[in-house]
This record gives sequence, C-alpha cells and structure tokens, in this order.
Amino acid sequence: MDKELGKRKAAEEAATYVEDGMTLGLGTGSTAAHFIDILRDRIAGGWVLRGVPTSEETKRLAVAAGVEIIAPDETTVLDLAVDGADEADPNLNLVKGGGGALLREKIVAAAAKRFIVIADKTKRVAHLGAFPLPVEIDAFAWPLTVARIREALAIHGFAAPGLTLRGGPGARAATDGGNYIVDCALGRIDAPAALNDALCALPGVIETGLFCAMADMAIFGDETGVTVERA
Ligand code: 5RP
Repeated sequence: MDKELGKRKAAEEAATYVEDGMTLGLGTGSTAAHFIDILRDRIAGGWVLRGVPTSEETKRLAVAAGVEIIAPDETTVLDLAVDGADEADPNLNLVKGGGGALLREKIVAAAAKRFIVIADKTKRVAHLGAFPLPVEIDAFAWPLTVARIREALAIHGFAAPGLTLRGGPGARAATDGGNYIVDCALGRIDAPAALNDALCALPGVIETGLFCAMADMAIFGDETGVTVERA
C-alpha cells in the first residue's frame, strides 16, 4: 500500500470539515503534516485559520502554511482538532505518541469540540498494543517511575513487558516539554481505559499514549479512497 497516498487522502477528507474562521488543534506527525499542507491552500485562497500546534515541528509547519498561531486562554474554543495515530481499534480507542507529542496532543484533543483522527489504513487494528505504548514520565528519578510502571503492568496481566526509555539511558528529553518517554511493548491491550487510568495514577507518570473515547471520527485512507468510522 502507498501509505503516503493513504495519509494524503485521509487528510483531504478531514479538511472538508474545516471552515473559514475556525480555530484548530493541530496534531503532530507525517499525517498531520499533510493536513497542514492542505490548509495552506485554503489560506492562500483567502481563509483565516487560527491554530494551537501540539509540537514545535507542527508550529513551524503551521506558520509556514499561514496559520495564525494562538496561545490559548480559558475562553479559547477549539472548533476542531485533527491528528494522526499509531493505532486505532474498532471503538476508536487510540495509541498515540510515536512522535513524542502525546501530552500536548491529548490536551488539545480533549479541549476540542470535535476530534478527527486521520491515518493510512494500516493503522486500523482489531486490538491495540502491537505498537509499543508510549508513556510520558518526569525526568526526575525516572528509573523509580519505570519500576512503578512495571508493577502496574504486572497487575494488569503484562508479566514481562519490554520497557525502553526512548533515546536510551542518559539521553536528552524525548518531548518538547522536557519529559522522558518509556515505550512499553505489550503485545495486546484488552482494557485500554483501565490501563490508562492505572498508569496515570502513578507518581511520575504524566500521560499515556492511550486516547480512549476521545475521537469523534476516524478517517483511514489508501490509494483507492477513505473509510470513515464514527464513535
Ligand atoms: C505523535 C503522534 C502521531 O500522530 C503518530 O505517531 C502518527 O504519526 P504519523 O502520522 O507520522 O504516522 O501521536 O506524537
């Protein structure tokens, strides 16, 4: 499958939900980059679009496309957030964070009136978990937090998960916010919401890449077109 074409088609379909004057949540990654590229054409045609980017890279792309970058205040309304995913299951639960922007992506998706996920069709899976679950943690005493994650995973039935600090021990922070990411190879996640709650309850854990019951719609593309799934 031509994944780039699939991403492009999904992004084009998502762009049909964008209206002149909207304030957008802008996701991170190669699929989100296609979406921002399509916004460039709308803006060149006279539209005004504002956006909250979820990473420094997305900010750079959005500025180049002509999106007016805003710093949200408490009254900010995000009309629509559009973002990619690493995996999406039939209930539109997601694994995200392959690009390291999961915290900002979750903040923006949760604040948006509508959240649309875009991906090539290979990201649509029967069960989450083949893609290692990113867990964002504070850099302070990170090995202690990894130990707590390992315990919590054991309680949830993951006896010997492979946990990898992204970038390796002593590496620089993995996120724009200065945090570390632990990638958890779990194989199959049967209860994503419960696992998310358990991991987020641990001191030192900032967020997980499990986005449960957040997406309103997912658009999966391939060379032939798109499939749209609604929550
Ligand atoms: C970044 C993400 C991305 O949306 C996810 O990794 C998918 O990326 P791509 O569109 O490049 O496949 O969650 O943190």
